[in-house]
Amino acid sequence: MSNNTKTAVIVGASRGLGLGLAKEYLARGWNVIATERAAGSSAALHALATPALRIETIDINVPEQTTALKARLSGVSIDLLFVNAGVIDDVEPVANVSTDEFTRLMVTNALSPLRVIESLDDLVLPAGTIAVMSSGLASVTNNTVGGYDVYRASKAALNTLMRSYAVRAGGKRSLIAMAPGHVRTDMGGDSAPLDVATSTRGMADTIATHAGKPGLQFLSYQNAVLPW
Ligand SMILES: NC(=O)c1ccc[n+]([C@@H]2O[C@H](COP(=O)([O-])OP(=O)(O)OC[C@H]3O[C@@H](n4cnc5c(N)ncnc54)[C@H](OP(=O)(O)O)[C@@H]3O)[C@@H](O)[C@H]2O)c1
Repeated sequence: MSNNTKTAVIVGASRGLGLGLAKEYLARGWNVIATERAAGSSAALHALATPALRIETIDINVPEQTTALKARLSGVSIDLLFVNAGVIDDVEPVANVSTDEFTRLMVTNALSPLRVIESLDDLVLPAGTIAVMSSGLASVTNNTVGGYDVYRASKAALNTLMRSYAVRAGGKRSLIAMAPGHVRTDMGGDSAPLDVATSTRGMADTIATHAGKPGLQFLSYQNAVLPW
């Protein structure tokens, strides 16, 4: 890894959008620290093999692993911390969702990303960016159609926790709750309108547009401001 280039940490980069973000930032000449959930589990990530890529391991739902990752990253100056990892289910209505499943989505999509951010944020440069992978479905205002009850709730919770974090951060850093569009991944499905490269290119452009501008925004991959 070069000392003179920018560094992105992409949490949850084994496949889908996280893998796409790792590829996008490598193509832009950045150093990338990309995480997989279990060591050696992402053949696609390891296949990128380039000196600018460092692969780390973290299950974001295991707090000790967040602490251990922070220790391993000691001394790294981060320009972009992007917590992408997330899970979905489509059981509806909410009353039919088991308590375990509700907990799994809320913990993975809302609590764990904030734990990662609160742990790693002092490695992020003052002019750096902290982003979480939200969703257009997180918008309470735009929820006029229902569906994906718990997933929506978990991403709305993520946005709300980011708003509280932003207050605590006191106007430091560019903070982004990102909606990537509906993208063809394992989660998004084969009939989604967007490919990964289009979404990740748009997200990286959006992040670049807001770099160095402190404060939290809920933005689409096309840099549109979304209603909370
Ligand atoms: N695709 C879409 O249309 C869409 C739209 C809006 C928002 N999003 C959001 O975008 C993000 C990525 O979605 P995707 O479509 O790329 O989904 P995906 O293909 O299912 O990938 C999900 C990623 O999250 C990781 N992950 C899940 N739980 C984790 C945990 N406990 N610890 C560490 N990593 C974990 C997965 O790792 P493993 O490989 O180990 O499972 C994988 O890398 C998610 O937050 C999702 O909610 C997606």
